[in-house]
Amino acid sequence: MNNSLKYADQEAIAKPIELTTAAYKIAYDAAFSCRFTHRLRFTANTFAPENEALSEILSKEGPYSRRAGIAMFIDTNVARKQVNLVSKINDYFKKYLPENSPKIHIVPGGEQIKNDRQNFRLIMEAIEKCRLCRKSFVIAIGGGAVLDAVGFAASVAHRGLRLVRIATTTLSQADSAMAVKNGINAFGKKNYMGVFAAPWLVINDEATLETLTPRHWLAGFSEAVKVALLKDPLLFEYIYRNCHRIRSRNLNVSIPIIRRSARLHFDHITLNGDPFEQNDARPLDFGHWSAHKLEQMSGFELSHGEAVAIGIAIDATYANLMGWLCDTDHGKILECLNEMGFELYHRVMQHARTLLGGLDEFQEHLGGRLTIPSINKIGRVFDIHKIDTNRMLAAISYMERFNRHESSG
Ligand SMILES: NC(=O)c1ccc[n+]([C@@H]2O[C@H](COP(=O)([O-])OP(=O)(O)OC[C@H]3O[C@@H](n4cnc5c(N)ncnc54)[C@H](O)[C@@H]3O)[C@@H](O)[C@H]2O)c1
Ligand SMILES: [Zn+2]
Repeated sequence: MNNSLKYADQEAIAKPIELTTAAYKIAYDAAFSCRFTHRLRFTANTFAPENEALSEILSKEGPYSRRAGIAMFIDTNVARKQVNLVSKINDYFKKYLPENSPKIHIVPGGEQIKNDRQNFRLIMEAIEKCRLCRKSFVIAIGGGAVLDAVGFAASVAHRGLRLVRIATTTLSQADSAMAVKNGINAFGKKNYMGVFAAPWLVINDEATLETLTPRHWLAGFSEAVKVALLKDPLLFEYIYRNCHRIRSRNLNVSIPIIRRSARLHFDHITLNGDPFEQNDARPLDFGHWSAHKLEQMSGFELSHGEAVAIGIAIDATYANLMGWLCDTDHGKILECLNEMGFELYHRVMQHARTLLGGLDEFQEHLGGRLTIPSINKIGRVFDIHKIDTNRMLAAISYMERFNRHESSG
């Protein structure tokens, strides 16, 4: 006889069971919440012998069981550019965590890791081979694409291992590394397969930025412009005044911008009340409905950051054509992106109606009714739920004229 059942739901079991299709007899609804700690560190040369940013957190979580190990995945271009990285990492773990030397794997960098499903399978297999338990760490080192793909594998293995992201691009440091999203592309759609899962620790290693190509250096600043337009007009003004210094990689100017952008994204996750995007609104996705579509349409010739710059320009132009955003603010936004070095037009934009299909895909991905952030002033955001197709087409074709004018001038 199971007494606990009796006490658990006395009323329900006391009565004779009556099966009915009319309506449910019993319903339990209860809201619940879970606590997460988001940890973000800014440092340089994570694996220098004296740098304890990583070891401090990992060792706090110990003592490790025999099985709690570490699987590490490094973006191939990071491994290539940083001399002796693997041996530095091995020395670092020998010094601080001798019981837990990581199994190191080099993985393809860039969107390729998210596009080819084979990569995901290989990462899962590597994690499985390490025989990690649920309290084990997976460390991903690289750009946003590597962090997304490795994060996805880490968050589904054993239903979620502890993920450490070490971000090595301007874009991942300014935005994606502190997001709680992980995923890969599937069925020709960006991030179609993925999960919401908070990382255990995020490290922005600022020294790694030095080896980025000029293109990938620039990419993250479009996300910084985006978050500035939505949340921080003073940051926008600072970026606007310094766009040439950003382009020429002046670190004294650029690093504070990335740090501020990271902080705004971090606060959005921890303070905004909807980290897992259960509501309709997606307040940080200014310019993103078209950006995701442009990435696909260009066969990923455009990087995420480059596509976001165009997406911002389109949405700002649309806001201007709708009479929401004044000419001065509109002009400053386009000038800022253009002077920083972003191309604000790509030939796939000739297929403007296909691009508009990005709106449906965005809505499908987000769920609920169409909700897109727009601005009526730099730093003032509001949601729109309907798009005037003709005006949006006009905004897209405006970018071609803008581009022609800029390239001839
Ligand atoms: N999870 C999120 O919320 C979120 C948010 C924004 C963007 N993203 C995703 O992030 C990805 C873009 O990330 P990204 O802009 O960092 O580009 P990326 O990861 O594609 O990296 C760009 C290139 O730089 C190389 N690289 C990385 N670090 C380097 C370094 N230190 N030195 C030299 N080369 C280096 C990479 O190998 C790659 O070739 C997209 O897939 C995008 O969808 C995710
Ligand atoms: Zn983005």
